[in-house]
Amino acid sequence: MYRFPWVLLLVAAVNMAVAAEPLRPGFYSETCPPAEFIVRDVMKKAMIREPRSLASVMRLQFHDCFVNGCDGSLLLDDTADMVGEKQALSNINSLRSFEVVDEIKEALEDACPSTVSCADILVLAARDAVALSGGPDWEVRLGRTDSLTASQQDSDNIMPSPRADATSLINLFAQFNLSVKDLVALSGSHSIGKARCFSIMFRLYNQSGSGKPDPAIEPEFREKLNQLCPLGVDENVTGPLDATPRVFDNQFFKDLVGGRGFLNSDQTLFTSRRTRPYVRVFSKDQDEFFKAFVEGMLKMGELQVEQPGEIRTNCRVVNGRPVDVLMSY
Ligand code: HEM
Ligand SMILES: *[C@@H]1O[C@H](CO)[C@@H](O)[C@H](O)[C@H]1NC(C)=O
Ligand SMILES: *[C@@H]1O[C@H](CO)[C@@H](O)[C@H](O)[C@H]1NC(C)=O
Ligand SMILES: *[C@@H]1O[C@H](CO)[C@@H](O)[C@H](O)[C@H]1NC(C)=O
Repeated sequence: MYRFPWVLLLVAAVNMAVAAEPLRPGFYSETCPPAEFIVRDVMKKAMIREPRSLASVMRLQFHDCFVNGCDGSLLLDDTADMVGEKQALSNINSLRSFEVVDEIKEALEDACPSTVSCADILVLAARDAVALSGGPDWEVRLGRTDSLTASQQDSDNIMPSPRADATSLINLFAQFNLSVKDLVALSGSHSIGKARCFSIMFRLYNQSGSGKPDPAIEPEFREKLNQLCPLGVDENVTGPLDATPRVFDNQFFKDLVGGRGFLNSDQTLFTSRRTRPYVRVFSKDQDEFFKAFVEGMLKMGELQVEQPGEIRTNCRVVNGRPVDVLMSY
């Protein structure tokens, strides 16, 4: 993939920028007119190859934006002197489909070299994942730049655990100016995709150290989960996050009302008085859910911190850092 390291060094000098321009729709309409089309096209191909990859790519926006803003930091591979976010507790053995992002980036570099940031790719691809799964479609604001670094620690300090309860989730989202309604709507992203037994063993067998299952799980559903994830199972085995894991719809909220949420952090949104009204509304009114979800995704996509940025040419590596390439010679 790399030609010669000195090419990368030159590119770095050209692309370095500090200013965070305000985001706007159609940011690439002059500099890369086909950008949005290219992203959707690669996402369609990914969907045909592996339907779950839509969910996996959509999740990346959340894990990127909550940690130092939407800056593509999540996508950086570790280097000799940096342990990045991919190693963080919520990400390792869990985040997937990075190869789809690579494919999008390669197609964009072919069409418009050094123009579309990896951070913007994540926001575009998340939107497309939802639209291609039968959910809403919306216009996104663009113009983000990519970080020069990433930190496992920063991700570990922020990203929520599947054990989280509604109160801690409300407080976490409030730190990002996201409301209780945003929290519930954004959790509706779990309308698509899967999770590992690893994420629910505690609630099946030892909720809050009680040695017992989470009483909020509907008994027949618990039977199913016990079969999927018996004690001693390979905890990489996965199950669907709602009853229709390939369709972006409000089934997720109907499942919560019925005690059939997969994750503890999801079911707690119905158990808790503060979040329950939103779960009820979204379970009955899919349009309300879609509207609130789009609002939440736009707000989450605005999270930015002042820091140096660039347009990476490879989403996994900072420009002009051929160190690992040299080491592999
Ligand atoms: C509210 C707090 C949240 C918690 C505690 C949480 C937690 C989790 C966990 C534990 C998994 C399964 C991981 C595994 O077992 O490997 C998961 C999957 C997923 N999450 Fe979240 N999540 C939250 C919010 C969000 C948000 C805001 C989004 C996107 C907008 C999102 C999108 C997804 C998707 C699409 C999947 C399935 C991915 C796949 O199939 O590969 N989550 N989440
Ligand atoms: C939340 O809003 C406050 C007040 O508008 C602002 O000062 C703060 O920077 C915002 N926080 C985030 C993470 O956007
Ligand atoms: C359940 O959790 C508690 C507290 O974390 C722990 O002390 C106990 O050993 C666990 N029990 C089992 C059966 O894993
Ligand atoms: C899941 O698989 C990964 C390798 O893909 C392995 O390193 C890890 O230990 C497995 N995790 C569990 C909980 O079995």
